[in-house]
Amino acid sequence: MRASDTPRAVCINALAAAAHSGHQQPRRGRSRSGMVLSAAVVTAALLSACGGDSDAEDQAPIAQGQQIFRFDTFGDETQWTDTLRMHEVIRTAVDPVTALSVGLKVDAEALPAAVVTGIQNGSVDLKSPATTVALLKLNAVVGLKGTVETINGKDVLTRVGVTCALCHSTVDNSFAPGIGKRLDGWPNRDLDPGAIIALSPALSAAVKAVYNSWGPGKYDPRFNLDGKNGPQVIPPAYGLAGIHKIISTGDGDDLAYWNRYVGVTQMGGHGSFVEPRTGVNVTNGTDDLITAKLPALQAYQLSLAAPPPPSGSFDAAASDRGKLVFNNAGKCVTCHSGTEFTDANSRLHPPSDAVSEPEPNGAPSYASRSATKQYRTAPLKGLWQHAPYFHNGTAPTLEAVVQTYNTKQALGLTPSQMSDLAQYLKSL
Ligand code: HEC
Ligand code: HEC
Repeated sequence: MRASDTPRAVCINALAAAAHSGHQQPRRGRSRSGMVLSAAVVTAALLSACGGDSDAEDQAPIAQGQQIFRFDTFGDETQWTDTLRMHEVIRTAVDPVTALSVGLKVDAEALPAAVVTGIQNGSVDLKSPATTVALLKLNAVVGLKGTVETINGKDVLTRVGVTCALCHSTVDNSFAPGIGKRLDGWPNRDLDPGAIIALSPALSAAVKAVYNSWGPGKYDPRFNLDGKNGPQVIPPAYGLAGIHKIISTGDGDDLAYWNRYVGVTQMGGHGSFVEPRTGVNVTNGTDDLITAKLPALQAYQLSLAAPPPPSGSFDAAASDRGKLVFNNAGKCVTCHSGTEFTDANSRLHPPSDAVSEPEPNGAPSYASRSATKQYRTAPLKGLWQHAPYFHNGTAPTLEAVVQTYNTKQALGLTPSQMSDLAQYLKSL
C-alpha cells in the first residue's frame, strides 16, 4: 500500500480540497455566505469523519488485524503442508460434506453467484474433493488458506495452512447449515480440530488416538509440548477489552502474548515463543512472520464486543431476581466483579477455587500445566452464546454451572434462586 492510500492521507487531501474550495467561494457570485457555509460544513463533516485523524489511525490497525485474523497463516504451511501433509488428505479425501461434518465453515460472502446457484440446484457436487479445492481457491473455507495451482490444466491444492479464524470464527448459517456470514470471535464449537489433525498421514497411531479423543469444540494447546492430554473448550475471542490476564490460567498480560504462543507453537507460524515459566522455547523458520502483525491483530480482537443476548432468550423478571442472588446469596460477585465480571486484573485463583476441577477422565489439573498454575475468574459477557462452560467444558448449560456452584460451595440456594440465577447469566 502506498503511503498516500492511508485513510489519514485521504482525509488530509479531502480537507485540503475543502479548504481550497472555501477560498474560491467569494469569486463565484451566488449566495456568498451560503457557499462559504457549505464549504465549512463539508470541512466540519470531514474533520469529524476523520476524527481529527485519530479515528482514522485507530481504524487502520483494526482493519489490518481483521485480515490477519481471517487470512494470515504466518507461514504455517510449513507445519500443515510440509510436515502434516494435510494438502494430500484434503485434495483426495475431504469433500465439502465431510468438511462440514467436522465443523469447517464456509463463508457465503466469498461465493460467486454461479457457485451459489450451483449449490442450490445441486450442480455443484458436494461429495467431490475437487469442490473443496474450488472453495479453497475462492478463499471461502473459514480458517483454511489454500494455494491452488493449475497443473496439466487441472486445479491442484499444493499448500494449505490455518488461520486464527479456524477456531475463533463461525458463520451465521444464513445460507445453509455451516454456510453463511462470518462471525469473528465466536468460538467454533462444531469444529473438531483433533479429528482434522488425526487425518494426517504423518502421525503415529498413538498420537492420532489422542487427537481423536478430544471431540468437537475442544483443543489442547499444550499437548504437543508437554504430552499431557486435557483438551480445553475453544473460548470466545470477543469481550476481552480491559482484561489484562489472558486465557483461562491468566498466563499473559495482553492478548499478544497468547497470540504469539498459538501462532508459533500451535499453528506452526514462523517466529519465536519463549516462556521460562513453562520451559517452552520454540522457533520455527529463520524468518519472523508474526511479531510485526501482533499489534494490529490485538487491536482487532479488542474491537470485538461480546454479542448481546437475542431478544426473548431469557426471562427478564427472573433475571432481575437472579442478579440479587448473584450479588448476595450466591456470592458470585466476590470474584466476578466489575464491568467485565472478573477480578482478573487484581488476582488469580488457586485450583481449589475453581469448581471445574478435578479434570474429567483423570487428566492432570490444567492449571498445573500453565505458566501461573492458577485460574483466572472467567469474564461472563456473552455467556448465552458459548456453552459448554468452564475451561474443560464440564458444565453443559448455565443451569449446570449454577448447580455445580451450589453443591461445591454449599451455597444452600433454593430451586427458584438457582433458576433465577441461571436466567441472569443468560442475560449478560
Ligand atoms: C486449533 C484451534 C485454535 C487456533 C487455530 C487458535 N486458537 Fe485461540 N484458543 C484456542 C484454545 C483451545 C484456547 C484456550 C486456551 C486456554 O485457556 O488455555 C484459546 C485461547 C485464545 C484466547 C484467549 C481468550 C481469553 O479468554 O483470554 C485468545 C484471545 C485467542 N485464543 C486468540 C487466538 C488467535 C489470535 C489465534 C491466531 C493467532 C488463535 N487464537 C488460534 C484454540 C485455538
Ligand atoms: C472464588 C472465586 C469465584 C466465585 C465465588 C465464583 N466464581 Fe465463577 N469462576 C471462577 C473461576 C476461577 C472460573 C474459571 C473456571 C474454569 O474456567 O474452569 C469461573 C468460571 C465461571 C463460569 C464459566 C464461564 C465460561 O466462560 O465458561 C461461570 C458461568 C461462572 N463462573 C459463574 C459463577 C456464578 C454464577 C457464581 C456464583 C454462584 C460464581 N461463578 C462464583 C471464580 C469464581
